Amino acid sequence: MCGIVGYVGPRESQDILLAGLARLEYRGYDSAGIAVIDREGSLGMRKKAGKLARLREALDEAPLGAGTTGIGHTRWATHGGPTDLNAHPHLADDDRLAVIHNGIIENFSALKAELEAEGFSFRSQTDTEVAAVLLGREYRAAGGDLAAAFRAVVSRLEGAFTLLAMHEDHPGLVVGARRNSPLVIGLGEGENFLGSDVAAFVEHTRRALAIGQDQIVSITPEGVSVTDFDGAVVEVEPFEVSWDAAAADKGGWSSFMAKEVSEEPEAVANTVLGRVQDGQIVIPELDGLDGLFQGVSRVIVLACGTAYYAGLVGKYAIEQWARIPVDVELAHEFRYRDPIVGPETLVVSISQSGETMDTLMAVKEAARLGAKTLSICNTQGATIPRESDAIVYTHAGPEVAVASTKAFVAQITALYLLALHVGRVRGALSAEVAGAAIAELEALPEKIRWILENEQERIEQLSRWMSDTRSVLFLGRHVGYPIALEGALKLKELSYIHAEGFAAGELKHGPIALIEPGQPVFVMVPSPRQGATLHAKVISNIEEIRARGARVIAVAEEGDAAVLPFADEVLRVPLAAPLFEPILAVVPLHIFAMGLATAKGLDVDQPRNLAKSVTVE
Ligand code: M6R
Repeated sequence: MCGIVGYVGPRESQDILLAGLARLEYRGYDSAGIAVIDREGSLGMRKKAGKLARLREALDEAPLGAGTTGIGHTRWATHGGPTDLNAHPHLADDDRLAVIHNGIIENFSALKAELEAEGFSFRSQTDTEVAAVLLGREYRAAGGDLAAAFRAVVSRLEGAFTLLAMHEDHPGLVVGARRNSPLVIGLGEGENFLGSDVAAFVEHTRRALAIGQDQIVSITPEGVSVTDFDGAVVEVEPFEVSWDAAAADKGGWSSFMAKEVSEEPEAVANTVLGRVQDGQIVIPELDGLDGLFQGVSRVIVLACGTAYYAGLVGKYAIEQWARIPVDVELAHEFRYRDPIVGPETLVVSISQSGETMDTLMAVKEAARLGAKTLSICNTQGATIPRESDAIVYTHAGPEVAVASTKAFVAQITALYLLALHVGRVRGALSAEVAGAAIAELEALPEKIRWILENEQERIEQLSRWMSDTRSVLFLGRHVGYPIALEGALKLKELSYIHAEGFAAGELKHGPIALIEPGQPVFVMVPSPRQGATLHAKVISNIEEIRARGARVIAVAEEGDAAVLPFADEVLRVPLAAPLFEPILAVVPLHIFAMGLATAKGLDVDQPRNLAKSVTVE
């Protein structure tokens, strides 16, 4: 749940570390720090509670010596509050060794007691400092061999970790290890990089290596060596990062989120790009993997947060087109309930980051139980796809704002592609129906663009009017239900307003008690063409809440005149076939949540208490 970066090479490491941390700040932003070995060979460190800007100020006040080897960290606190002392790096071995960490060391209390009994003392409350002190002890025992000390340390650690360390004795060397936590290597010319993800170094190099579970990497300016935890050399194949640095910049937008919402049409278009040939879905990543879908009698979708809501939309598409029953589960609930899963189950995991620990652990558990695993992921080199039998990448580009927007529409798009592909492979879907769906799919980017061009201003105005609102409810039926959930989550996380999403049919079973005069309720109105019954039922729901004083904001299809007499506001979306409605209906909700948070003067990119990538359970 933290961002880590390492550098060795001829350039000033401080600049490279700070730039890398700025790109990783979405992973955690309650404190930050760097350590550098300067040209005289001494190790210096600065760290500060608060956002990266505070660290920059500290460095301006008390600069570190210039140096070409360094590590940097941006933190999301787990053990120990966000204070200067708990920030990383942590020092050991007479302050000659610096260590940073992402993850949780579950047995840190026992290790700490062991080290204290030997006379070691601690300055922070973190689990990381325990690893640092242990590494210092093992470094001495290994006669100054840092990689050997790492091997000794990792065998003692339980939990999840990426650890990076450097020692004054070895300028030009950074060593890292990973277990259930991400670490990628950037390969430069006469310089090398380490990062929690490729965003840390993509402005310097697009050649990368993703190291596997339980591996240790040493980088010097001249090269990279990878071993397993026993010291056996591991060969790792480089890959080319397709994102460029510009894609991860704000590019003149007021926030990453504003930029990313504006990129929703491209996120959909790029996810479809190259995957329709001669009117057929062709997913190159699934070439030769048709067997994965044969003999499957059940699909379980596993994900968390927004990705889970995308999965709920995917259920409708997979069941309709591929005719396979689908369960959608929160990954953290799946893992601990002794699930009934076997070779007849296809587990589809969805994760923007590909690093969400709950999802990763659930996928591993499913694989252990014999399920086939396929992941939908936006981040190259990430762990979840590497642990899966097959991958379908979303091509949303880097998503930096903590709240997921463009990745969500890309995830739904990938699920449509997958459902159509599986439907055809299994013979459950006619070419004609698939063709019509593909045409709808290809029309979506233009329709999203229409919403941004024609409705965004009005929605932003509405969010300004509503900036004092204390609670907002969201209702939807059928594919509108997951969108109600997503609308509520986005509003909660960005504007800290109480928000709940409900299935409209559930209203009378309890939630209607919440309605009082003036209560704002967003209602996802299904297309009248979706079946008169569903539309009529939602209109009845609107009448029921209006009768109790609710203020209704309807998200409805252009041309749906029937809704007008029942709504205080109508946000228009273009016509689409029923299954494709969610990807359009969510756009006004993303704009609204962002607009309301902006009106309240909040940081839409880095909401309080959150981190983009939840890499701890
Ligand atoms: O990286 P992932 O897609 O696995 O992340 C899953 C959730 O943590 C994520 O969607 C989270 O709910 C976002 N903050 C929602 O905006």
